[in-house]
Amino acid sequence: MTAPELAFGEAGHGTTVVLLHGFPLERSMWDEVTDGLAEDSHVVPIDLPGFGRSPLPADGTSLDDVADGVVSVLDALSVDTAVVVGLSMGGYVALAVAERHPQRLAGLALVNTKASADDDTAKAKRLDLAEAVQGPAGLRALRGMADTLVGAYSRAHRPDVLTAVEAMIARAEPAAVAWGARAMAERPDRHHVLEALDVPALVLTGEEDALMPLSAAQQMAESLGVEPVVLPQCGHLSAMESPEEVTEALRDLLRRTR
Ligand code: MLT
Repeated sequence: MTAPELAFGEAGHGTTVVLLHGFPLERSMWDEVTDGLAEDSHVVPIDLPGFGRSPLPADGTSLDDVADGVVSVLDALSVDTAVVVGLSMGGYVALAVAERHPQRLAGLALVNTKASADDDTAKAKRLDLAEAVQGPAGLRALRGMADTLVGAYSRAHRPDVLTAVEAMIARAEPAAVAWGARAMAERPDRHHVLEALDVPALVLTGEEDALMPLSAAQQMAESLGVEPVVLPQCGHLSAMESPEEVTEALRDLLRRTR
């Protein structure tokens, strides 16, 4: 399988920071973090296949292929190494970049994500979702998802975040959602990658993340030999719910890469 073509944005100058979004969203979920980091970095938010402006992938495109697509973006920009930041599904891709292209990493940030593979129940749920979204239900199969992605504090105090997430989900292509669900179901466990990694790293999550248990962040942090950053009053979409805190944590990571 060849690397899928990926659409991306660019802002600022300095160390390159690649931002990979969660499912079933698009690179605009990083807008506030992009603006903050672009003051002193070269920020490259990427749309995963089928989302935002990236074309739909061919059947069988894996998250490993997407990792190769991320490296093709770096090649196109003549960038040797980058700090790769992935939130949730974006984190799964970031881990695949770390395993397949370690020489292209200047640093790694794993945000609201996990390094473990799905168990059989989780895989079956993803395959059911893929089928449902391509059937008569269409995007109605994602009903309620925005409420799960956004933490309780943000739902009560940041209605703009919930509205933006609902709008992104409403824009998603059912075929892209089905592709993403199937690709995530196939990903392997990647804890061994973290143990072998020798670049500065950050593990960040939200204390109200309903999708990723705190233990997943703790386990990744332990493999990397770092302390996890756990943001209060923040759910699964930390980059949208707590963009200033996420930007600050990434700035700290960037300082450690210099
Ligand atoms: C995401 O936010 O990217 C997804 O919830 C990740 C997942 O379903 O494992």
